Amino acid sequence: MVSQARHPAAPIDTAALARSLQAFGESVMLPRAAYEDPAVFAWEQKYFFDSGWACVGFSSQLPEPGDQRAESVGAGSVLLTRDEDGTLHAFANTCRHRGHELLPCGVTAQNNSIICPYHSWTYSLSGGLRFAQGFKGREGFDNSAWGLVELPVADWHGLIFVDGSGQAPPLATRWGNSTSWSRPMSPSGWSPRGGTNTTPRRTGRSSPRTTTSATTAR
Ligand code: FES
Repeated sequence: MVSQARHPAAPIDTAALARSLQAFGESVMLPRAAYEDPAVFAWEQKYFFDSGWACVGFSSQLPEPGDQRAESVGAGSVLLTRDEDGTLHAFANTCRHRGHELLPCGVTAQNNSIICPYHSWTYSLSGGLRFAQGFKGREGFDNSAWGLVELPVADWHGLIFVDGSGQAPPLATRWGNSTSWSRPMSPSGWSPRGGTNTTPRRTGRSSPRTTTSATTAR
């Protein structure tokens, strides 16, 4: 997480927090609430992970055109795709029809389209609506108005960052000359632990599960 707007203080007792904020050598661990209070977790989700740039994975997890991967971020989830030109995209992981999740979090798929598992609305890898089951030829229905909700995405030394708020300053602006301070860490040499879980596309229907607040059709 690299970019947060001004926000209210975390819901942690300030007296308990004071000891943690003392100088190094005199400070103690954070209060227990920082680790286990659901209110603190909700605060973190809202003001850290939903309010700006968050790292969601490695560029190497989507090396080929057609690669798709979903990751949770904040209270929702994001769908990453690599389009035919090799361009990386990030979308709210929510179908524009009834809001079904497009791909389960942590799963990677390979397909030349994004197909919703609920009623098979089909999107291009760059998010445009190609086919809307039940809406073909419907008067007043314009495919171009029902593409996926795209989010700002950046590939920083092989790490993928997404701005779930859609409103944060560009990552490069926020970080300035990141090359100098990041060089000792060699982030471009990092790789995900374990393998990538690649599964075939689901084709059957399942219960709708809304993961973001993207606008949907009825
Ligand atoms: S096609 Fe996605 S919710 Fe209906």
